[in-house]
Amino acid sequence: MENGTRNGRGFTLWFTGLSGAGKTTISEIVEHELRNRFRKIEVLDGDIVRTNLSKGLGFSREDRDTNVLRIGFVADLLTRNGVGVIVSAISPFKEVRDQVRRNIGEDFIEVFVDAPLEVCAERDVKGLYKKAFAGEIPQFTGVSDPYEPPAAPELHIKTDEEEPAESARKVICYLEELGYLRPVEALNRA
Ligand code: ADX
Repeated sequence: MENGTRNGRGFTLWFTGLSGAGKTTISEIVEHELRNRFRKIEVLDGDIVRTNLSKGLGFSREDRDTNVLRIGFVADLLTRNGVGVIVSAISPFKEVRDQVRRNIGEDFIEVFVDAPLEVCAERDVKGLYKKAFAGEIPQFTGVSDPYEPPAAPELHIKTDEEEPAESARKVICYLEELGYLRPVEALNRA
């Protein structure tokens, strides 16, 4: 499909990256702007999904893959029904992310939220890296469990090099370029 012709279609913005890379922060800014500009928005955040849809799952590869496939399943249903879906999940394994990509098809937009491990550990928003480095959390992504970066994400955002508002603006611009969103000149993008 040509760029600029997707007005009215649903989409899945899939934010992947290490804990503390900025997925939730950027997705919240994007959500706020989209709420004003897109008819229907839903958010699927790993931390929240793990308290309901994926309650009881742990952090083995198998459980993470199950979690990601469940999120992908819901995202696919919503996308097909014209909803703008925002997913925030570490989703560390490429194979299963690519499976979700195949299911959703061209309306899947992978956003690699990238920051060096040292930066995420320094931020340590939830205090989890300190525990992980102390060996108190097994299989912690980036410390004692792998993170496989996307090979060809639609967007690659480096959160140690720019402010969250700038990263969010790039995501919105991308949606405009593809035609999911009509550009609105008057919007405040400070
Ligand atoms: S995923 O790997 O299955 O995609 P998801 O994004 O749902 O992960 O959940 C990640 C969140 O769980 C982290 O932000 C962190 O708060 C928490 N968490 C607890 N244990 C771990 C762990 N071993 N590895 C990564 N995150 C963990």
